[in-house]
Amino acid sequence: MSVSSFRGSIPIARALTAAWAALVLEASCSSSMRSEGLDPSTLPAEVRDDYAVFARRCSKCHSLARPLTAAISDDSYWSMYVTRMRRQPGSGISQEDTAPILRFLHYYSLEQRRQGPAAPASSSTTTSRSESKRTF
Ligand code: HEC
Repeated sequence: MSVSSFRGSIPIARALTAAWAALVLEASCSSSMRSEGLDPSTLPAEVRDDYAVFARRCSKCHSLARPLTAAISDDSYWSMYVTRMRRQPGSGISQEDTAPILRFLHYYSLEQRRQGPAAPASSSTTTSRSESKRTF
């Protein structure tokens, strides 16, 4: 396969995004990679149960890093995403799961906002999730 056809034609950001996507795919194939979530002991006690539901339900098809680094901080977006994920074939996410999951994501968004712009700088496009700095 010739590489020269796309040399120079793909902006770096796109290439990074592709590399990131490949990583995510790889992670989702090896279900033994469970270390990327949050450490529940760092969470307030009242959030832990919600986190447990989130961690179980949202790690089935991709790593938890995917939602955790998605830089979504708006509850209505989360609601939309969780609905979309729930509707994926075989998601295993029930309607009852959505409340605790959304509660955790709400908490998490607030927490992220409080800690300031720790997320990767969103300079150019909306796809700023090209690299994951999180190494939990
Ligand atoms: C049944 C498999 C499955 C489950 C379970 C699942 N996801 Fe996903 N998720 C996907 C797939 C496939 C994609 C990529 C396609 C897409 O964006 O719709 C994705 C992508 C995402 C993205 C990135 C979307 C984007 O635009 O880049 C986020 C955020 C996300 N999932 C969050 C979640 C959350 C939160 C949960 C738990 C409520 C969850 N996922 C559970 C399959 C799943």
